[in-house]
Amino acid sequence: MEQQGFTVWFTGLSGAGKTTLADALEPILRQRALKVEKLDGDVIRTNLSKGLGFSKEDRDTNIRRIAFVCDLLTRNGVAVITSAISPYRDVRDEARQTIGNFVEVYVRCSIPELARRDVKGLYAKALAGDLPNFTGVSDPYEEPLNPEVTVDSETESVEESLAKVVSRLEELGYLPSSVPARA
Ligand code: ADX
Repeated sequence: MEQQGFTVWFTGLSGAGKTTLADALEPILRQRALKVEKLDGDVIRTNLSKGLGFSKEDRDTNIRRIAFVCDLLTRNGVAVITSAISPYRDVRDEARQTIGNFVEVYVRCSIPELARRDVKGLYAKALAGDLPNFTGVSDPYEEPLNPEVTVDSETESVEESLAKVVSRLEELGYLPSSVPARA
């Protein structure tokens, strides 16, 4: 049977763990014999969205481009994993409508914990008032109201969060629950 495509759409603040989870999910989906493509926010901004900034307009353009590619791939039976902040609810919902087989995963983490991690040093700057339009500090992040999955990187391990995503994908019928036998 032809594989049904779907998009796993990670959303959440910078540093919350979207890319880590996307990277960890990829081999799991491949093990289940799915064709997989990953669209990482930081990578997309170096090519497809090169030159875009962080105004609402530019973020919306970025997310619409990502959604466009997700739709093309999803239609062709690919399991797509995307990880961009995607801070605005209306544009995420637009992506959901366009793509159809859409699994929204909210990666939650508090600002104090993100500031403690601060891998890229951006929270320190933003909290000091030196970085305008920084999501969660000086720019909005609209939490999903009804995501298919919510994970919490503050209280859960990567494995625990991944297990939630995988079991939801099974529940939704996107993942065969057993690994097909190898020839
Ligand atoms: S989105 O809002 O358009 O979805 P995207 O995920 O592509 O954002 O890019 C976010 C990354 O850009 C962050 O992880 C961070 O490294 C970097 N960045 C630079 N400036 C900002 C800013 N003002 N707000 C958020 N992220 C920023």
